[in-house]
Amino acid sequence: MNKGLVWITGGGTGIGKELAKKLCDSGYDVIISGRRKEKLIEVSKYNNKKIFPFRLDVSNLKEVNKVANKIIKRFKFVDLLILNAAIYSPGSLQEISPTNAKKVIDINLTGVINCLPIIVNMMKKKNKGHILFVSSPAGYRGMPGAGLYGVTKSGLTFLAETLKIELEQYNIKVQVVHPGFIKTPMTDKNTFPMPFLMSSEKAAKIIFSKINSDVFEIYFPKILLIPMKLISFLPYKIYFFLIKKFIKLPG
Ligand SMILES: NC(=O)c1ccc[n+]([C@@H]2O[C@H](COP(=O)([O-])OP(=O)(O)OC[C@H]3O[C@@H](n4cnc5c(N)ncnc54)[C@H](OP(=O)(O)O)[C@@H]3O)[C@@H](O)[C@H]2O)c1
Repeated sequence: MNKGLVWITGGGTGIGKELAKKLCDSGYDVIISGRRKEKLIEVSKYNNKKIFPFRLDVSNLKEVNKVANKIIKRFKFVDLLILNAAIYSPGSLQEISPTNAKKVIDINLTGVINCLPIIVNMMKKKNKGHILFVSSPAGYRGMPGAGLYGVTKSGLTFLAETLKIELEQYNIKVQVVHPGFIKTPMTDKNTFPMPFLMSSEKAAKIIFSKINSDVFEIYFPKILLIPMKLISFLPYKIYFFLIKKFIKLPG
């Protein structure tokens, strides 16, 4: 039975790719988008099922609008929009590069915002829909080393929280995902230890198990995320003291 249509940005690799496979297996039609066509084509061949590749750079608003309109024309309605595309830019913020900052913000934050208007308007008109933001606990609170990546993910979680409240009146469900360390091309470059590293298949399985639930925040693995959440609730004075004591300063 066809369960509806999902659009996943950044669906050619990592978490997006595994989510596409999982959703396809469970009866959804899935659109995957990203900049590298070859990665998308590879995923679209999965199990000869219904995964449709669309080449798209989310930082290009004109391109996004063109693709979003094309999708609506062909498929009529997007039941679930998964905003997952991002690039990684950790490190110190002491010598911030405006050029690099623009690139990261253009993809991780503006790129997400670019995908919203056409799809949200379509969902509002039908008084139904579902949007899933893939953010990161790197944006929970200011953290040495989380860099511009953390800055954009903090903004993304704020955006998700706000839209959750604002879109409820249109029967549009909003959820945010905060994964710990997941083994994907994004983290394959990391040279530091990644506690409780999880496979992208397992991450997709957990996300998939929660998309039909009422939880707003999907976070895992709990063993890493619960302490991170608890620390993020602390008053500034204690928070800064603990972070300075336990986190190595970059640079
Ligand atoms: N892996 C982790 O430990 C971890 C932890 C917390 C949160 N996350 C979040 O999980 C999401 C997925 O990341 P991942 O770990 O699966 O890494 P990934 O494999 O590198 O996936 C990122 C995807 O985003 C796409 N992308 C990047 N820039 C784009 C652009 N300008 N336009 C369109 N697509 C673009 C990439 O495809 P192209 O390069 O082909 O465009 C790629 O498929 C990200 O939002 C990430 O921040 C990951």
